[in-house]
Amino acid sequence: MLTSRVQRQLKDIEQKNLIRSPLLLKDYDGRFVVYDGKRVLHFANNDYLGLSISDDVKASAIAAIDRHGVGSGASVQVSGFHAPHHDLEKAFADHLGRDRALVFNSGYHANLGIFSSLVGRNDVVISDRDSHASILDGIQLARANHYRFKHLDVGDANLLLKDFSGDWIPRSSRGMTKLGELPRATEISSRVSEVSSRGLTAGSNSSNKFLVTESIFSMSGEISPVKELAKISKQNDATFILDDAHGFGIIDSNYNQNDVHAIVIPLGKAVGSYGAIVAGSNELINAIYQFARTHRYTTGLPPHVCAASLKSLDIITKETWRREKLLSLVSRFKQGVKQVGLKLVADTVSPIQGILLDSPGRVVDVQRKLLEKGFLVSCIRPPTVAKNASRLRISLRCLLEDEDIDRLVSALGETILS
Ligand SMILES: Cc1ncc(COP(=O)(O)O)c(C=O)c1O
Repeated sequence: MLTSRVQRQLKDIEQKNLIRSPLLLKDYDGRFVVYDGKRVLHFANNDYLGLSISDDVKASAIAAIDRHGVGSGASVQVSGFHAPHHDLEKAFADHLGRDRALVFNSGYHANLGIFSSLVGRNDVVISDRDSHASILDGIQLARANHYRFKHLDVGDANLLLKDFSGDWIPRSSRGMTKLGELPRATEISSRVSEVSSRGLTAGSNSSNKFLVTESIFSMSGEISPVKELAKISKQNDATFILDDAHGFGIIDSNYNQNDVHAIVIPLGKAVGSYGAIVAGSNELINAIYQFARTHRYTTGLPPHVCAASLKSLDIITKETWRREKLLSLVSRFKQGVKQVGLKLVADTVSPIQGILLDSPGRVVDVQRKLLEKGFLVSCIRPPTVAKNASRLRISLRCLLEDEDIDRLVSALGETILS
């Protein structure tokens, strides 16, 4: 039976047009998918390079099923991992130029595992204001002091890092990850001195700083200033963690490898498979392996999923046409949208493009109308994005054609502007 609190919450989200229900999809071919008996162009998944339906990737997965079965059977830390796990870790470590890589069951598991194993209660984590839920949940699990810098703002991040260079940590903020309560960098100085004057603070001998960001923001497509963040992180003696979920295989963040201590690559996006890689130094990966409960207390990823990812990695390095075609579709889309007079959430060359609409109800309505016209786009509402930031999320993929982009652009214009 549901408690009255949950019943109230359900009623509340229903009234605000925030109820979610799954769309039943069938027969994805890289371009179209079938919804409600009708083929619609698919602009809603993160299979940017079309690898989830590559014949070579499928063949690798099938061959691995024949050798290893469909499940891994147990936690890889308890019962041993299979050759595809090992080969995938080795291939990613080599590809990224890191000592070691570790396979997690998903990006969500990876982010929870990294923060909860590396970050302590007295430590400070500084993250971009728009960080993904899995990063926020990881920080919360670590019960660390958490502060967010203004979105994409290196100066604000630097200010926060410097604020925490002193001897004082505001004890009262421990575990403070309730989004609405997080102070901005500019509020920190006064906060620190206020807290210290009340004598509530602990010495920071045991506190360490961590800086975290995403390379490409999943709901806006904005590109992070990774290189600059890595630089200030180094200057301030912080550990820098990069979530490259939407950048890997698409856009090179061009940072100095030595300045990024841990890189997270969820494999369900451009790699077209599932699971995640965390890569870094031997020392750091060993610590994660020893302490991350989300790695230990869960059944390992099925070996064939790792075999699929391994094949995808090989294709990503060889078939550069996929990325080139994708980027040309992105520029065609942006040009088209400008011509019809629609405004995008951000001016970005990434495959994630957003169009802000005035309310959650309007986003639901526009998504439905687009489906009727033969296009599937994502409908993004709070709490995934802030209040008043509901949007359509359009995901471009290399198996789409120029004409698909042109058709979507005119349907968007007709539906939103009329
Ligand atoms: C930035 C970012 N990090 C982590 C994740 C989680 O990855 P996964 O879907 O593999 O759990 C996602 C995907 O939703 C993401 O967009």
